[in-house]
Amino acid sequence: MVDGLYLLPHLRSGTVVCEASLVAAGQARSVKIALPHAVAAGDDVPVIDLLVLRLDDGALRVYLNRCAHFGLPLNARDGYEFLNDEGDQVVLRCQHHYMDFCPATGEGLSFECRGDALTDIPVAERDGQIVTL
Ligand code: FES
Repeated sequence: MVDGLYLLPHLRSGTVVCEASLVAAGQARSVKIALPHAVAAGDDVPVIDLLVLRLDDGALRVYLNRCAHFGLPLNARDGYEFLNDEGDQVVLRCQHHYMDFCPATGEGLSFECRGDALTDIPVAERDGQIVTL
């Protein structure tokens, strides 16, 4: 799999990420998008992995699904619950080494990730779809 950071320049403005109804308030999910225009001759079509989440107030956030710790996707398998309620706050947790990130900003909350952040993907909701800006 190609590192998402290298694919980011190929994520064009106006790309449909997913249906807006796919992510309810307080939920997060991984969405994979094929980038056929980024393929080099003879190579497989690269796929960029995005993390789509909706905060409790309905605000939408999309991050590159690439942990700021070791650069792995935050989930090791499908069905992983990214958001964890810690009582005083909800955190976005990577499944590999359990580093926590702020869902609203992507900033690292765990000591090892302080000063780092998830890569924010600017998006908007249009006609029931989440699209990149
Ligand atoms: S790769 Fe995510 S916590 Fe280490």
